[in-house]
Amino acid sequence: MGFAVNALEILALVFVAIIGTLVLMGVLFFFVDRFQTSDAIRRNYPVIGRFRHIFSELGEFFRQYFFAMDREELPFNRAQRDWVGRASAGKSNTVAFGSTRNLNVPGTPIFVNAPFPPLNDQYARTEPMLIGPTARTPFVAPSFFNISGMSYGAISKPAVQALSRGAKEAGVWLNTGEGALSPFHLEGGCDIVFQIGTAKYGVRDQEGNLSDAKLREVAAHDAVRMFEIKLSQGAKPGKGGILPGAKINEEIARIRGIEMGKDSISPNRHKEIRSFDDLLDMVIHIREVTGKPVGIKTVVGSEEVMREMFDVIAARGSDAAPDFITLDGGEGGTGAAPMPLIDLVGMSVREALPVVANIRDEHGLKERIRLIASGKLINPGDVAWALAAGADFVASARGFMFALGCIQALKCNKNTCPTGITTHDPRFQKGLVVEDKYARVARYAKEIIHEVETIAHSVGVAEPRLMRRRHMRIMQSNGISIPMNEILPSYQPPASPADD
Ligand SMILES: Cc1cc2nc3c(=O)[nH]c(=O)nc-3n(C[C@H](O)[C@H](O)[C@H](O)COP(=O)(O)O)c2cc1C
Repeated sequence: MGFAVNALEILALVFVAIIGTLVLMGVLFFFVDRFQTSDAIRRNYPVIGRFRHIFSELGEFFRQYFFAMDREELPFNRAQRDWVGRASAGKSNTVAFGSTRNLNVPGTPIFVNAPFPPLNDQYARTEPMLIGPTARTPFVAPSFFNISGMSYGAISKPAVQALSRGAKEAGVWLNTGEGALSPFHLEGGCDIVFQIGTAKYGVRDQEGNLSDAKLREVAAHDAVRMFEIKLSQGAKPGKGGILPGAKINEEIARIRGIEMGKDSISPNRHKEIRSFDDLLDMVIHIREVTGKPVGIKTVVGSEEVMREMFDVIAARGSDAAPDFITLDGGEGGTGAAPMPLIDLVGMSVREALPVVANIRDEHGLKERIRLIASGKLINPGDVAWALAAGADFVASARGFMFALGCIQALKCNKNTCPTGITTHDPRFQKGLVVEDKYARVARYAKEIIHEVETIAHSVGVAEPRLMRRRHMRIMQSNGISIPMNEILPSYQPPASPADD
């Protein structure tokens, strides 16, 4: 009996202490809020005004789980993310009952099914494609779907390791992004595209100029198949890479040749490239030094500028041509970028790709310059659209992030990525187990390839690169779809049979 009374008394004391502390804190916060001057809500509504901030932060998470509809969120909705999730996990990607996609949204591509598609034994395997026929070591790229540039620095060591091993397993290439070549890129033995950003990380001398000796060192790796000069990236045209100081550890600083802890900002353009002639000079020089195909990556600002570039290429002859052009859409992703650039600068790949494909073909460079498209092309329908619209290859960054387990927490610029993909904090990195995640990367790539082939077969061609614009109808705002070749016909060389 005495014991029970004591326990009750202790409980009551604890209760009083908690209430007392809460009241004291409330009074303290009341005065802090009332007399501070920076926040109007807290000044006018002391204490309860604080909940607004807490709820806005929590809302970001709750919306994703409880309130957002399957096709609602941005940049990627749940249906898109879940497709990648199931493909990566090797789970069935069939759905039941009917499509939840609203097919009346203008711009939606609708593929034209053939009445008599080829029989299963008449399908061809997608052929590898040659890039850089004039380079000393051209590259025969096995896959039309590949991993777009994400630097080691923007993404973590285990993320790069899993991508490298997964890329090898699936037979796709891995682009290094602008953060130089690390041992982790090489670990899996996959094909690598080395990207030369404006800071020239990994291939620069003490003064930040392009170093031929370093270029040769990189090219000496057999796995490095091509070099990509980055002019711009869809998420931040006109701005160089931004690696926040919080994400720079000793190893990254060594590999890039930069200082630890200080934000690493790349120049907003290559200082020695002031014109398309300069650009082609750089392409020729790097191809000569490395012996490997060299291309460029850019986001398209306008059709005129692209015409100007192809005019310069045509005038100098196909030997001066870049071996490939990566067209990144304004909708592209990034580790960190200013919001006005991420939102509003640069054309969408949906608009730019068909236009640039036509300009290239008009200049007679179809077989010489390969087009690689990127920008939210992460599900099979998107990839099939790009190939039919004129791309030779598609590359994705965020599709592969989802394969690695990304939950779209939008914290890539913070070093606190909860899935370990874009952080160098070991606490979070331990969630990204390379042994498990590399298999997901490989399964995702293989499943995309398989499903794009399925679409190609359904429209009646033997392999994806045989799809043409006539195989797609594009939904208009009046609810009627129009064949894409009527909206923007492909370029037809004079006196050749129509093939658009
Ligand atoms: C975390 C992250 C890092 C990136 N780093 C680079 C980079 O170093 N160089 C580059 O050209 N693009 C970079 N990108 C852009 C991607 O390569 C790609 O062009 C863009 O995200 C569009 O593809 P997606 O929509 O499939 O992500 C990065 C993107 C992300 C999400």
